[in-house]
Amino acid sequence: MKHPKRHTVTAALIYANGPIHIGHLAGCYLPADIYVRYLRSKGEDVVFVSGTDEHGVPITLKARNENTTPKAVVDHYYGMIKKSFEEFGISFDIYSRTSNQTHHKTSSEFFTNLYEKGVFEEQESEQYFDEKTGQFLADRYIVGTCPNCGNENAYGDQCERCGTSLSPTELINPHSALSGEKPVMKATKNWYLPLDKLQPKIEKYISGHSEWKPNVFGQCNSWLKQGLHPRAMTRDLDWGVKVPLKDAEGKVLYVWFDAPIGYITATQELLGDDWEKYWKADDTKLVHFIGKDNIVFHCLIFPAMMMEHGGYTLADNVPANEFMNLEGQKISTSRNWAVWLHEYLEEFKDQQDALRYTLCANAPETKDSDFTWQDFQARNNNELVAIFGNFVNRAVVLTHKYFDGKVPAKAKIEPIDQQVLDELSRFPGRISDSIEAFRFREAQGYLIDLARLGNKYLADTEPWKLIKTDEARVGTILNIATQISGSLSILCEPFLPFTSKRLEGVLNYASEGWNKAGVADLLKEGHQLNKAALLFEKIEDETVNKQIEKLKAPEENMEEEDNVTPQKETINFDDFLKMDMRTGTILEAEVVPKSNKLLKFKVDTGIDRRTVLSGIAKHYSPEEMVGKQVTILVNLAPRKIMGIESQGMILMAEDSDGSIRLLQPDEVTDNGSAIN
Ligand code: 2FM
Ligand code: ZN
Repeated sequence: MKHPKRHTVTAALIYANGPIHIGHLAGCYLPADIYVRYLRSKGEDVVFVSGTDEHGVPITLKARNENTTPKAVVDHYYGMIKKSFEEFGISFDIYSRTSNQTHHKTSSEFFTNLYEKGVFEEQESEQYFDEKTGQFLADRYIVGTCPNCGNENAYGDQCERCGTSLSPTELINPHSALSGEKPVMKATKNWYLPLDKLQPKIEKYISGHSEWKPNVFGQCNSWLKQGLHPRAMTRDLDWGVKVPLKDAEGKVLYVWFDAPIGYITATQELLGDDWEKYWKADDTKLVHFIGKDNIVFHCLIFPAMMMEHGGYTLADNVPANEFMNLEGQKISTSRNWAVWLHEYLEEFKDQQDALRYTLCANAPETKDSDFTWQDFQARNNNELVAIFGNFVNRAVVLTHKYFDGKVPAKAKIEPIDQQVLDELSRFPGRISDSIEAFRFREAQGYLIDLARLGNKYLADTEPWKLIKTDEARVGTILNIATQISGSLSILCEPFLPFTSKRLEGVLNYASEGWNKAGVADLLKEGHQLNKAALLFEKIEDETVNKQIEKLKAPEENMEEEDNVTPQKETINFDDFLKMDMRTGTILEAEVVPKSNKLLKFKVDTGIDRRTVLSGIAKHYSPEEMVGKQVTILVNLAPRKIMGIESQGMILMAEDSDGSIRLLQPDEVTDNGSAIN
């Protein structure tokens, strides 16, 4: 879009059922904050809204597990999350919550608007009902076996192992997550958003955004290719926004209907009547920052809701990130395999920027990434301390030593000076371009390059050697070094806001905004600097070792319930011998049409070449599977899945988080080798 007049930036409304960890920060909140701080520094008109998502089954299940009320859960986590974000420098203009009255009003009105326009399809259907608790079982309230991959713990809305989107009636052997009872069917009425009918409009919107990140654009198109289905926008639950209709007693809005409207509510709370131009004007640029698991809701469903409502400006971009792992493993709340923000803030006082820097340098922008404590230490010590901190410190200390801390005059400009000044002038534009393209890692990399340039300049010109013979030359060098420091204080602000403040203190300079960075006379001759102060603290081995030990301490890592599936019933040797397992090689692999998770293989089993289906498309691409030697159960009775007969089962290891890895011989063997 051409230069917008104003920006509305949203960051996902996280469920208020647990604290914030580094995965959340790297996925969504840190990039959003960098982007917004940059826009503010450019003098743009921007609102940055977020808050907690306080409805939905994740909240009620948490309350149930902890023997408390949903209200108590959300009140507790709202306060905790808000405080962590503030202390970490995430600069929301408002941090709201979906349980407040304004939000209930706004989301009800939104629903009524669509209802009155006749957008919804009313459908009476038989839904599972738990007679013991007297409740309908929607979404995560119902658990059963996935028809697609056989996972016994699939939810009523999704199988987390194979990623398939499900409805409760598709589950095999369904049971209530509340009582464990087998549910009965009971008639109920709900209101559906006919996404199938709206698909052409949604397609038009998405196809106009081929500039979006490939992971986002690709996921949208894959949903569209499979064909959208009507989705119920109401639920038979008692926690949530009441459905504002007469015949809807005991029903609330679907959490994914009300949650994104929370962005609008937050803007209303912040701006009063002024909110509309941030949501309903063509010259407003709306950007949603989210993690990859939220793509379908922000790119397809929320835009469909806004289109049907009318008057709203659709998102210009949705720069969703992938996930960040921790020390090579998926972050897991239940196993306490996480770095919690509130704990970090307590243990690393005043070192917010060390974490911000590492998370940005490693951001999962194009694929999943990994945070390790050693990398955190190395980046802090070798980049922030040794490059950025060291350069600024030398520039300021030398200026104090030779010129009483006053910015010296420039004398004759030598070619090396001109070269450095030219380079300096190019940095703001370079960093801007990367930020505006949502390439924050690259942008931050350029920032460090600028400090590197400063260091190299001092090393090449050696002012400490010249001071006895040519004070005027030293003046020029230190003037330029001070200009670089001043630009660093402006350009680092989006990434390292605490450092920027400290550096402004040292330079006795208050930023006049991004457009001033890169100029040759930012700090005027004679400007008085303050004394040098430490910008970054070195992180010792002992400190990171303590963190690694804490993470790995088994007693802290386990909640009462053990995540390893219990051992099955004992079998005898004959039972084992009944299974004919062999090695085989994948000859061909392709995605099964209409399934986003199944792959179809042609396998050379040594015995024959046969077709085998496997629900691993989320973990392996067809291309990477071809040529792999795998292990396969060859005498499993053939089964028809999505109309294709699968003649065997490829063996895999699955951990408690649903991550899947192939079991392969440690060296290639003849196909058909028996496994026993
Ligand atoms: O995934 C989540 O944590 C959701 N609560 C995100 C909602 S974002 C928006 F729609 F509010
Ligand atoms: Zn599944």
